[in-house]
Amino acid sequence: MPLLRKLFFAFLILLMPLFVFGQKKPEPWPVPEEYKNMVNPVPKDEASIKEGQALYTKYCASCHGKTGLGDGVKSRALQTYSGDFSGPEYQNQTDGEHFYKTKFGRGEMPKYDGRLQDEDIWKIIHYMRTFKK
Ligand code: HEC
Repeated sequence: MPLLRKLFFAFLILLMPLFVFGQKKPEPWPVPEEYKNMVNPVPKDEASIKEGQALYTKYCASCHGKTGLGDGVKSRALQTYSGDFSGPEYQNQTDGEHFYKTKFGRGEMPKYDGRLQDEDIWKIIHYMRTFKK
């Protein structure tokens, strides 16, 4: 068997546990107090929610899914479940917690500091509140 093919099968076998056991549940993600208690400085209105939607669709939906269920096109390739934004685990967090996690990221969650302005992150957070069931 050619070496390349051998390597390919070795690679597949190494990846097997991922397919079998699925994604990791995220570890608790502590947020510093000063962020947790931050108040969203952007007024919540039709315009800001709409802008948040456009930004979310562009930057976040590929992993988090169109309606925040964690089922975006890239989600299957993630080793960590990106969360269900419609449920209490997410919705019971403060805007400040969402802001901190989006700004600084962790592991497979990209850091948006320097890529998105703070104001835009706050607008996305307003939009993500509409996922609540
Ligand atoms: C490349 C895939 C990917 C993209 C793109 C992405 N995320 Fe994430 N996100 C993740 C993953 C994976 C996690 C879970 C990380 C962890 O807990 O270690 C996560 C977690 C989060 C969390 C924490 C959820 C919770 O319940 O605590 C927030 C908030 C978040 N993302 C917001 C965003 C926003 C806003 C954007 C777009 C600006 C975005 N993400 C783009 C993959 C992504």
